[in-house]
Amino acid sequence: MGVSQFGYLVLDVADIKAWRELAAGIIGAELRGGEDGGPLKLRFDEYEHRMTLRPAKTDALVAIGWEVDSPEALEAVRRKAAARGIAVTDASREALAERGVQAMIRLRDLDGAPLEIYYGPKIDDSPLKPSRPVSGFVCGALGLGHVVLVAKDRDESVRFYREVLGFSLTDTIKWDQLDAVFLHCNPRHHSLALMNECYGMTSGYLNHFMLETCSIEDVGRAYDLVRSRKLPLSLALGQHSNDRMTSFYMKTPSGFSMEYGWGGVRVDDAVWQVGHYDTTKLWGHESAA
Ligand SMILES: [Fe+2]
Repeated sequence: MGVSQFGYLVLDVADIKAWRELAAGIIGAELRGGEDGGPLKLRFDEYEHRMTLRPAKTDALVAIGWEVDSPEALEAVRRKAAARGIAVTDASREALAERGVQAMIRLRDLDGAPLEIYYGPKIDDSPLKPSRPVSGFVCGALGLGHVVLVAKDRDESVRFYREVLGFSLTDTIKWDQLDAVFLHCNPRHHSLALMNECYGMTSGYLNHFMLETCSIEDVGRAYDLVRSRKLPLSLALGQHSNDRMTSFYMKTPSGFSMEYGWGGVRVDDAVWQVGHYDTTKLWGHESAA
C-alpha cells in the first residue's frame, strides 16, 4: 500500500509574469486566480488544480504532492517513515484548504525535497477551459505527469521511495554521466525518476517535471510556439528510449526544465519486465545548451 499518483506540484516563483505566459501560451492549462498577488493555480483535468505557482522573491520547490487512495494508506506511509526515523508532520487546517485536500502529512526525502502525502483532492466537474486550443492532458488516475530529482545517494533514495512510498521499479538508463532509475506507482511508465549527481546538478535539485498531452499535435504546435517565440529549449524534439515519450524540454522561468510530451507507454505489473537502457533517446532530443 503506497502512493497512487503524482498529484500536484507547488512552486515559489520569482517571475510570476513569465510563468503565467508559459502556462497560458505554451502549456495550455486552465488558469485560476493569481490576481492581486495571490497564487496562480493551473488546472489540467477534473482536479480543481494540480499546480500552484506562488509569487515569491526566490524560486523554490515548495511541495511535491503524492496521492494515496485511503486514510489507511496515509497511515501506512506515516508508520514506514517513522520506522526509518524520518520526521513527519500533520498539515494545518490552512494548508489543507490551500491544497484542497482532506488530509495530508509532510516529510522530506533523503535529499530534503519537500513531500506531501494526501488523500481526498477537491474535484471540479466543470469542463476544462484550456488557455489555448489543446486536446487535453493525460492526468486522472495517472496523475499530473512525472518529476525527476537528483539524489546524492541514488541507490539509498530508490530504497526510500520503494520502501516508504511504495514505488515499483520500471527500468534504468545509464548513458554518459547519467545513471537514472525510473519508478512507477500506477500504469504511467514513471511518476518519478532519480538521477545521480551529474552534469553539475547537485542533490535535491528538481531536474524537470513532465506533462503529457492527449495528442501528438499538441506537442508539435507547442514546439512551433516555443521556437517562434525563441523561448529557451533544453532538449529539442525527440523520443525517449524507455518510455517512448515523444517530447521536447524547455527551460522554465525558475531554471529547471519542463518536458512536454505525448505517447508514453503504460506499465502492466502482471507482465512488465524491468529493462536496462544505455541511451536516453531513439531519435532527436539534441541538447540545446
Ligand atoms: Fe521526463
